[in-house]
Amino acid sequence: MKYSFASLFFFFATTTTSAFSMTAPKQTYLADIPLGAPDAILGIAENFKKCTDPNKVNVCIGAYRDENGKPWILPSVRAAEKIMMDDENENKEYASIAGDAAYVEQAIKFAYGQDCDLSVIAAVQTLSGTGACRIGGEFLSKFFPVKKIYIPDPTWGNHIAIFQEAGMEVVRYRYYNRATNGLDLEGMLEDITNAPDGAVVLLHACAHNPTGCDPTKEQWKTISDLIKKKNLQVFFDSAYQGFASGDAEADAFALRYFVEEGHNVMLAQSFAKNFGLYGERCGTLSFVTNDADEKERVLSQVKKIIRPMYSSPPIHGSSIVRTVLTDEQLTKQYYEECAFMANRIGSMRKLLVDELKKAGSTHDWSHITSQIGMFAYTGMNSDMCDELTSKSSIFLTRDGRISLAGLNENNVSYVAKAIHAVTDGKPITTEA
Ligand SMILES: Cc1ncc(COP(=O)(O)O)c(C=O)c1O
Repeated sequence: MKYSFASLFFFFATTTTSAFSMTAPKQTYLADIPLGAPDAILGIAENFKKCTDPNKVNVCIGAYRDENGKPWILPSVRAAEKIMMDDENENKEYASIAGDAAYVEQAIKFAYGQDCDLSVIAAVQTLSGTGACRIGGEFLSKFFPVKKIYIPDPTWGNHIAIFQEAGMEVVRYRYYNRATNGLDLEGMLEDITNAPDGAVVLLHACAHNPTGCDPTKEQWKTISDLIKKKNLQVFFDSAYQGFASGDAEADAFALRYFVEEGHNVMLAQSFAKNFGLYGERCGTLSFVTNDADEKERVLSQVKKIIRPMYSSPPIHGSSIVRTVLTDEQLTKQYYEECAFMANRIGSMRKLLVDELKKAGSTHDWSHITSQIGMFAYTGMNSDMCDELTSKSSIFLTRDGRISLAGLNENNVSYVAKAIHAVTDGKPITTEA
């Protein structure tokens, strides 16, 4: 019998493949890899996806949803993308290590103000706010003399891991008074006073996550004076500019005030929330330096951190932000759309409290309406949160934080009734 070369090859290939697939798995170092705990927030989001309850509600993740509970692409963002598609000069080349310089300039003006002194601000494009915090942490860990960063308690959960992974010691300062559901200014000032001179202090620029509780202008001034006296390095994290008041300019108060007061701040800036560019990973890291020479040296070192990490940032999101912020009409439209998102969230605060009362709750929920930004820090303890999830398929973080963006006219009454059911007759502000 004659066999063609092709049929012999086929026979050989299939038999060797099946012999290979029957080999017992090799013991390698991978066999000893322990299972990592799921991320506190993203793990809950996964569980929400898997849940089949038609009434399920996701108030866990900090992402804007429209009045139908759907993700929203800002019309100004869509318009910018159309402009980019038609622009023959757009390309898919690598950005430089520091990113798109024209984008960075617009982003920096958005944060520090149109009249800021660009000649002393060292800035690079980053992988959103997370990337900015991480590169900033790496820089501090490499160059800053005191390797301690003071972070509010509570804070965005990822802050702790980011700065620890970067090699900084994370210390907490008191921020929130659970008894009053307000800022613990006294505790905050005491803990900052007790920090070693010259350490780093992280401040949320506005719309503090998770508490929705920001210092007043007067309180910011007191904080600034103390930080100056102690010669601390300020690290602002600005992930919600525009979401606190609906006005991105007003929300930049603390950052601009500190710069005016002479602080050489660092800033991690994100466009995930305020431009709805979550998946585009678009942000900046910046340093207010003393002069152009210092700026250049700082930049050179930041680039040396970025290059072996990811070489250069993605360009689509930054092109959108650049296109919007360099077009007067689109900028105006963008500011209106940002205000619209903040207002819808604000109206959900009021509606939630109204619905809680309607459901029969006698608790004082006024902190929900006095808080700002994307979240309500309700005061519910972890047992109550677990019960909300297990009984009503309402998914939230176990610290009682609710993303108001996940509420809408169709589900707010359901959520309010469920919250009333788990909090009725029990205190809501006592959990440490
Ligand atoms: C306070 C704070 N900082 C930074 C971030 C980073 O977000 P991103 O990396 O998506 O810009 C978040 C996201 O939730 C946040 O809440």
